[in-house]
Amino acid sequence: MAGIKTLGQFIIEKQADFPYAKGELSRLLRDIAIAAKIVNREVNKAGLVDILGEAGTVNIQGEDQKLLDVFANNQFIAALTCGGECCIVATEEEEDFVPIDSPVSKNAKYIVCIDPLDGSSNIDCNVAVGTIFSIYRRKSVDGMATIADVLQKGTEQVAAGYVIYGSSTMLVYTTGKGVNGFTLDPSIGEFCLSHPNMRVPSEGYIYSINEGNYVHFPEGVKKYLKYAQVEDATTNRPYTSRYIGSMIADIHRNLIKGGIYLYPTTSSSPNGKLRLIYECNPMAFIMEQAGGVASDGFNRILDIQPETLHQRTPVFIGSEKMVKMAEKLMREYSPQKPLLNKESTVAIKLNGTDQIPHKIITG
Ligand code: AHG
Ligand code: MN
Ligand code: MN
Repeated sequence: MAGIKTLGQFIIEKQADFPYAKGELSRLLRDIAIAAKIVNREVNKAGLVDILGEAGTVNIQGEDQKLLDVFANNQFIAALTCGGECCIVATEEEEDFVPIDSPVSKNAKYIVCIDPLDGSSNIDCNVAVGTIFSIYRRKSVDGMATIADVLQKGTEQVAAGYVIYGSSTMLVYTTGKGVNGFTLDPSIGEFCLSHPNMRVPSEGYIYSINEGNYVHFPEGVKKYLKYAQVEDATTNRPYTSRYIGSMIADIHRNLIKGGIYLYPTTSSSPNGKLRLIYECNPMAFIMEQAGGVASDGFNRILDIQPETLHQRTPVFIGSEKMVKMAEKLMREYSPQKPLLNKESTVAIKLNGTDQIPHKIITG
């Protein structure tokens, strides 16, 4: 009888793929998995304890922070601080990157970028949320790491993954050698290999977009949505529309079943809504490793040079043929690529006056 394989066993087995690695990356993944289990425990009882609701603060993007956003952020920073393999954590919830200034961590080789809780507006109604992470090797050789160590292209990622707290909890990750998924068995408290070598179908049948923003979409996206709704059996059309509103859950489903997820520019989000460093790059790395494509409508997501920590980008991600068709229609009908501005680390407008966004103190 074949036994189960835990995430820990799998990571050790795969360490041989990196002949020069000394186990730091494995330990980093272990630290992330530990924090994920703690966050999972709290997410699971979110309806029971007084942890729901607003924290009364806004994050750097000017969005309300839920208590669980703050909790998850603190857990990941704490686990990565204890682990000692990471010199910087850059998180969606903090204005600046967080240097880990301890004797062991200061010279650590790795940078972790994280969206501690994705889809947090869904917590109150028991809908899947998740964590997205991305790991880079630091470029600077000694001393404290700097912002330049964080602003690396997605192509430089050494690993990326996500945890989805759904009807079951899964951790999916890649180190650039395919994608593997692990399901948490709560009875033993271990992530167990359940989805080896995940591959996305090249032609899917699901499209996922917040269609409420339709009138503000670029013409190329409008044309794609019409294309998605036309009948054509050879290409699975009309496609099925599915939108959860947690990027991680929408992309996870599309990765398994085949589909496309789009978050284009809109009038309220002229550069797109989703963050390049915390959301798009890790999901793009995973999607490409599963055989899919991730684009900003014109170019590969992983090739974008980040200029600011909280930079946003439009994103079209999923099954190869579907994303390629969306890109074709963008080129034909929306050839003006939106300019990516250097946004979002500036003060936000509250009541008509500029105010510095609240900075969260982590424990
Ligand atoms: P976060 O909870 O980390 O701020 O991310 C929310 C994101 C993403 O998860 C989701 O797909 C998207 O926002 C939904 O946006 P709309 O509500 O505009 O559709
Ligand atoms: Mn998010
Ligand atoms: Mn988030």
